[in-house]
Amino acid sequence: MAKRSLTFVCQNCGAVYGRWQGKCDACGEWNTITEESAAADARAAGPGRPARKGRLFALEPLTGQAQEAPRHPSGIAEFDRVTGGGFVRGSALLVGGDPGIGKSTLLIQATAAIARAGHRAVYISGEEAVAQVRLRADRLGLADAPVELAAETSVEDIVATLSQGKTPRIVIIDSIQTMWTDVVDSAPGTVTQVRGSAQVLIRFAKRSGATVILVGHVTKDGQIAGPRVVEHMVDAVLSFEGEGGHLFRILRAVKNRFGPTDEIGVFEMTGGGLREVANPSALFLSERDLGAPGTAVFAGIEGTRPLLVEIQALVAPTTLGTPRRAVVGWDQSRLAMVLAVLEAHCGVRLSGHDVYLNVAGGLRIQEPAADLAAAAALVSSLANAALPADAVYFGEISLSGVVRPVAQTAARLKEAQKLGFGRAVVPDGGRGEGSDQGIALSAVDNLASLVADIAAQGVGRTAMRKQERQGG
Ligand code: TYD
Ligand code: MG
Repeated sequence: MAKRSLTFVCQNCGAVYGRWQGKCDACGEWNTITEESAAADARAAGPGRPARKGRLFALEPLTGQAQEAPRHPSGIAEFDRVTGGGFVRGSALLVGGDPGIGKSTLLIQATAAIARAGHRAVYISGEEAVAQVRLRADRLGLADAPVELAAETSVEDIVATLSQGKTPRIVIIDSIQTMWTDVVDSAPGTVTQVRGSAQVLIRFAKRSGATVILVGHVTKDGQIAGPRVVEHMVDAVLSFEGEGGHLFRILRAVKNRFGPTDEIGVFEMTGGGLREVANPSALFLSERDLGAPGTAVFAGIEGTRPLLVEIQALVAPTTLGTPRRAVVGWDQSRLAMVLAVLEAHCGVRLSGHDVYLNVAGGLRIQEPAADLAAAAALVSSLANAALPADAVYFGEISLSGVVRPVAQTAARLKEAQKLGFGRAVVPDGGRGEGSDQGIALSAVDNLASLVADIAAQGVGRTAMRKQERQGG
């Protein structure tokens, strides 16, 4: 008989300890370690059964017939863009996001679209009663879609029910944290339960060919709560993001075994549910404050799609001993790098200034090509000189202050031209690629010359000059 011993498991990252402690050494979270039964966990994992003789199986060569994974479109183009062309048969996905961001709304819309196309689509809610889900569907105008609905939390019951009849094309489990499995005795919501339940559901997906979508909650620091372990078990992890005050939402693939991870899907939350946004650049630029110093439009690329966003900077004298650097939507260390280059190579002293940088609209930018736009916004704010309203910026800044060319110049310029921009400030090396886009190009080879240009236009150029003098 297995000896019952207790283990202590961090509910945030899944680290296991032999005794209780207040702080998890692995992820640094406090008060996340709870007692769980190790025997139950071991039973769920499989070992403990009597050893059996191994079965022989055939090993195959790498060459041979390769089939493109069969995909089923969701009926929502922006969703399919993120998954890489639709749901793969027999795959399991995890969709994470803050509470209230619209996960249930998005997934009931997708389920309804698939059901309307004549496929079996099942929505299992562990959080809301059937009446609540119905009410939402009614409000979204989806009440007539032949979705099969249930409020259930036992994965064994769910799998048994779904195994009857035609294989569902899609199964939504909303959410994985509310599910529990008989093979584990821990309480629902604990790491062991979440992992055990996910395992059962993923096995069902692989066996039956249904696509199973698990909904997961996200902690305040942006990680999918508890089931970090689940991220490794599923085929794709999608994250649904958005800023509280804004109405648009971004679906992003964090992991994708069958497709790209750099595509984003853009939606807008309306009274009638989530609406796809076909032209996100226009949306992200719709609230622009023309003529204000400290803003620059960045011509970026998200996946295969060009996307224009406004980068806003505020540089103000600090009142504290250590100046503040705050960033929303961009990388903190890239900001530090751009500031260092401005100090070291362009004579812009910022050690006495607080610096705030924001990407408008709640988008997160990961491309290094945003360096030039960020630098232009920072210098524009410091010099109190508005940048030309019809200009876009892109280019990577190296530590030596050189502006380096980036990929897909032509696509960036085309998008800018389409949205009515008349000029682009681009890296010197990448000029040839986009010369016929009907947009005036000004090439910069190093950051210092751009800084000089902006400062020269500035009404606050005296401030700039004073700085330069102080800086030597
Ligand atoms: P929901 O899908 O329940 O979020 P999640 O499942 O991620 O917790 O979305 C809830 C929010 O969406 C709620 O604040 C109201 C808003 N909403 C709309 O604005 N329009 C709609 O048509 C619907 C259904 C919800
Ligand atoms: Mg929900």
